[in-house]
Amino acid sequence: MSDLVLQHNVDLTILNTFGFTQYASHYVETESAAHVEQAVRLAQGNGWPILPLGGGSNLVLTKDINALVIRQIDQSINYIEEGTDGIHVQASAGTNWHALVMHTVARGHVGLENLSLIPGCVGASPVQNIGAYGVELCDRFVSLKALHIPTLRWHTFAMEDCKFAYRDSLFKHQLDEFIITEVTLSLNGAHSLQTHYGALASYLDEHHKDEAISPEIVSSAVCTIRKVKLPDPALLPNAGSFFHNPVVDATRFDALKKQFPELVAFKQADGRFKLAAGWMIDYLGYKGLRADGVGVHSEQALVLVRVGNSDGNQLLTLAEKIKDDVQRKFDVSLNIEPRVL
Ligand code: FAD
Ligand code: EPU
Repeated sequence: MSDLVLQHNVDLTILNTFGFTQYASHYVETESAAHVEQAVRLAQGNGWPILPLGGGSNLVLTKDINALVIRQIDQSINYIEEGTDGIHVQASAGTNWHALVMHTVARGHVGLENLSLIPGCVGASPVQNIGAYGVELCDRFVSLKALHIPTLRWHTFAMEDCKFAYRDSLFKHQLDEFIITEVTLSLNGAHSLQTHYGALASYLDEHHKDEAISPEIVSSAVCTIRKVKLPDPALLPNAGSFFHNPVVDATRFDALKKQFPELVAFKQADGRFKLAAGWMIDYLGYKGLRADGVGVHSEQALVLVRVGNSDGNQLLTLAEKIKDDVQRKFDVSLNIEPRVL
């Protein structure tokens, strides 16, 4: 095992997709689970808090990070044949998420294609239970391996341990307590192609009407749709959706729908309704807004962007104004999706 290289005062500008310039007091890159444990021991020996960092695509940095930032960079993907039940794929935390999806799609496996082009690393994928185009990570989840930082004990989490929900998991409520080093997902078997999500269904109908649909076709359709709506952080810094889509009960939804007949919402399995927060922000006229170096994406009002030399606090000021306006107009409260540090 190579030695850990500890760095101090590290500029995080290129390690977060908003490109905010803040510094980490201490920083290491790890290449194995043993390295992760060594890094945690190092932090504990020095009394430093720990911050696990992946691709920095769900973060808003508002200040310097006074902690040991641990970034796992080992990329490994292994398939475990499981017979008629399908195949399991195991990936290390540092693996780029989209690279994992492409690896499975290239082999013709069914399971991850709807989750194409989501930025970030495998290790962060369970934290907010990533989801897109009708599939969530928990629909494909088998298990994960994580180090419990306070006790330095390794744990294997099965599905029921993770408390997955929409953009939520146990790990979101116990931030910086576990560091996830490996995730195992299931492919094929009982999984079938999921093409019901509105935008995806219309795209496939328009472009692939009489073809046999494959994971590759679904993945490429998802990538095309995403490229139209979502800005590439390398060109227009952002962290994807800035707010969760709020979920309300049927009575509340009926009342809102009477007042705002165009309101877009999706019925959930439990009878409640998930409101399209992007529609509400769009309705309020924010789409395309630019002010104080931050703004609202012109193709998707749920995505806030950095357009100048601004900082995380200027972004949060805009986010608070949007939240207040949505509250006032719709009496609905929005939650911020990325982690604010
Ligand atoms: P980071 O931003 O580095 O970290 C996020 C959180 O996870 C932090 O709290 C961090 O401490 C913690 N964390 C990171 N790694 C670990 C680890 N190994 N162990 C424990 N904790 C860890 N999300 C969706 O769900 N669906 C989408 O469709 C989607 N689209 C996006 C589009 C764009 C353009 C962008 C910029 C973001 C989008 N996101 C989406 C959000 C983001 O990509 C996901 O949340 C992603 O999983 C974050 O991964 P990351 O590696 O960048 O995590
Ligand atoms: N809409 C508007 N105006 C807008 C944006 C959206 O009217 O400016 C309406 C449209 O009617 C559209 C509907 O809202 O049909 C839903 O929009 P979209 O399909 O773009 O999805 P979303 O609800 O805005 C969610 C996720 C995305 C995920 C997509 C696709 C959340 C918070 N966001 O966005 O995830 O990629 O669905 O499944 O759940 C992320 O979490 O960072 C993210 C990008």
